[in-house]
Amino acid sequence: MALAVTSSSTAISGSSFSRSGASSESKALQICSIRLSDRTHLSQRRYSMKPLNAESHSRSESWVTRASTLIAPEVEEKEGEVEDFEQLAKKLEDASPLEIMDKALEKFGDEIAIAFSGAEDVALIEYARLTGKPFRVFSLDTGRLNPETYRLFDAVEKQYGIRIEYMFPDAVEVQALVRNKGLFSFYEDGHQECCRVRKVRPLRRALKGLKAWITGQRKDQSPGTRSEIPIVQVDPVFEGLDGGVGSLVKWNPLANVEGADVWNFLRTMDVPVNALHAQGYVSIGCEPCTRPVLPGQHEREGRWWWEDAKAKECGLHKGNIKEEDGAADSKPAAVQEIFESNNVVALSRGGVENLLKLENRKEAWLVVLYAPWCPFCQAMEASYVELAEKLAGKGVKVAKFRADGEQKEFAKQELQLGSFPTILLFPKRAPRAIKYPSEHRDVDSLMSFVNLLR
Ligand code: ADX
Ligand code: SF4
Repeated sequence: MALAVTSSSTAISGSSFSRSGASSESKALQICSIRLSDRTHLSQRRYSMKPLNAESHSRSESWVTRASTLIAPEVEEKEGEVEDFEQLAKKLEDASPLEIMDKALEKFGDEIAIAFSGAEDVALIEYARLTGKPFRVFSLDTGRLNPETYRLFDAVEKQYGIRIEYMFPDAVEVQALVRNKGLFSFYEDGHQECCRVRKVRPLRRALKGLKAWITGQRKDQSPGTRSEIPIVQVDPVFEGLDGGVGSLVKWNPLANVEGADVWNFLRTMDVPVNALHAQGYVSIGCEPCTRPVLPGQHEREGRWWWEDAKAKECGLHKGNIKEEDGAADSKPAAVQEIFESNNVVALSRGGVENLLKLENRKEAWLVVLYAPWCPFCQAMEASYVELAEKLAGKGVKVAKFRADGEQKEFAKQELQLGSFPTILLFPKRAPRAIKYPSEHRDVDSLMSFVNLLR
């Protein structure tokens, strides 16, 4: 078992927050079979802990015990030296989540916390325990979580002997929202408003008490929005304890880990998981906004399923969404053209209007509504061109329509454009175009969509 490599002192520090009573005797302590009385022989330092929702500069009464660390710091940062986190992210690109977690905890001590809600985050806590360093955990209780999720929180607290630092939404704000718009307004006008009240503002409060946070985001979680997550970055959206842009660092130790490997790790370490996973749920958020996915569906399709892929960031990780609207629309035409292939027809506005008018087309048409500067369009370019090659001469025309700038309003009104890229199939005989609903933009997924509906 991996823990065998940790020293007795690291096992002690793995117990995280100091708590009274037997519950603080975490699994780490039991596995390493060290007696609590041995603590007195270990070097200890005391740190004051600042609760996440505390006002700046005030100190809480709570204390945490910190024992010696697993890995000695490699280089002590000189005072005043500004860390280059882009550089650090590159250096850590091949590091294991354990090494990354160790580095994060080493650098930020009690001013960093794990953002906890789901499976990935139990893995984060497990990694934190394995570093032997003390760690903090917070969670945003939106008031709309599944009962199974609350059970998981409780099981995790018991397993690790920790207290999760819960953040709750502002009662007055929730009251106003629900009294004005009802309990399920997000189905009508999108999830952003409710998420802002129940998640984003409490998160902002939590982060104001920290200098860094750790999330369980992975690149493969969402091809649309998370494919470029770095291991560590200066948080592009939120502010930390010191205030101002650049005052918060965000760590994503699992960025390069695939979902299946997270699950292998959880199983191997035999840690608690959300009971909903056994019912087909993969990515789990709030109860009304989460549903199980079918075999072969992407995990993100179980979240806010009534909305476009791009919108599927609730604001916790807003920085993942690249500029697509507004200023980006007026980007100079110098941006390199994409989907350039003899097998991809470039449609004009008139061409698309004709397609819309026809009820009996000679052939089915697959059309991508794109903007050449959009990274998600660029990411699907190779598969779309390959698909066009495969479909050449097979009764399906493959086309593109540049739908940013002055065409955008038209594309929104007439072509179901939500975000770029939007893919439409105009079947041979059906009057209406069918929008491709999935984030899977690989050749096989697109091909089965075309073949099933042409
Ligand atoms: S979300 O933005 O779509 O809701 P997702 O569920 O994928 O996020 O989780 C990504 C990471 O965000 C998690 O691994 C966790 O670190 C953090 N996170 C998500 N929801 C919460 C929550 N309710 N409380 C604390 N952290 C959360
Ligand atoms: Fe509200 Fe749904 Fe967002 Fe939860 S996920 S905060 S219920 S909109």
